[in-house]
Amino acid sequence: MSKEIKKTKETNEIKRIGVFTSGGDAPGMNAAVRAVVRYATYKGLHVYGINRGYEGMIDGDIERLETKSVRNIIHRGGTILKTARSKEFMTKEGRKQAYESLKSYDIEGCIAIGGNGTFTGGKVFCQEFPDMKFIGVPGTIDNDIFGTDYTIGFDTAVNTAIEAVDRIRDTADAHSRLFFIEVMGRHSGAIALYTGIGSGASGILLPEISSDSESLIKLLKKGIKRKKLFSLVVVAEGDETGGAMAIAEKVRKEFPHFETKVAIIGHLQRGGSPSAQDRILATRLGYGAVEGLLKGKTNVMVGSINNRLEYASFDDAITKKKPLNQDLLELAEILAL
Ligand code: F6P
Repeated sequence: MSKEIKKTKETNEIKRIGVFTSGGDAPGMNAAVRAVVRYATYKGLHVYGINRGYEGMIDGDIERLETKSVRNIIHRGGTILKTARSKEFMTKEGRKQAYESLKSYDIEGCIAIGGNGTFTGGKVFCQEFPDMKFIGVPGTIDNDIFGTDYTIGFDTAVNTAIEAVDRIRDTADAHSRLFFIEVMGRHSGAIALYTGIGSGASGILLPEISSDSESLIKLLKKGIKRKKLFSLVVVAEGDETGGAMAIAEKVRKEFPHFETKVAIIGHLQRGGSPSAQDRILATRLGYGAVEGLLKGKTNVMVGSINNRLEYASFDDAITKKKPLNQDLLELAEILAL
């Protein structure tokens, strides 16, 4: 048994907890649910699965989960608890109804697996109903949450995107084409940065860094001077240029000898079996969330920083900006050509 488990000292009497997934799904959410259910059961708690995130909480779509309920899910993408983005939970009445549903099952604490929107809801809920404990687990492919080095699903999404870019590389090479490949990340360039580096892209366009088509054109022309026969540019969905389609249109006429093509990887990045790293991260964070509840923590998110479990307030997780890795950004530029 690990040291983390031996260290447990319970300081409160919580007996029934709920777990749910919310916002965009991410590979590894099921592994987190499994860890929550199994570890909480091991500690003598009763666990309830809340279906469809805050929507199901409002509707009372709640069921008991036992060890056997989470069999055979660790390798599955998506979420067995389903997910949703709830408009009703943004209203006071909706949250009151959600609280009453939880109370009708004698639930005293909740584990919310999701991203920014999920924790924003959790924070307001904690303020309005302080007797309901609430702990977040960062689950989003975007890796844009402060308080954790990685979010659940990011590693799998990057692996999926890199595999897709590798395939595009083959055909781009065969036809000597310029390809703009769009990856997910409405507000975050983490997937684009890691995918760009991992696939050896010539250019990477991110929402965090102001990008202009002129410098990209210069960069690509430099490559052509060095007899580069094809080029790949990875573009984050939220880049200020307007995404892969828009930037391709802007630069196309500058490269008459190349055919310029666009590929949008899209939701492929959200599905699929979680990577080893995501399964392990999800398992550790699920365990950490139950531990947090047992220790009386609330209004916090559990994260992993330098491989250690740490708790950050919901407020910090939501409002603090997670910086992109500067070393990686510099390396991307140096190695691009
Ligand atoms: O889960 C995060 C994310 O994948 C973003 O990168 C993307 O912009 C968004 O979700 C898309 O969400 P939806 O599929 O719900 O429109």
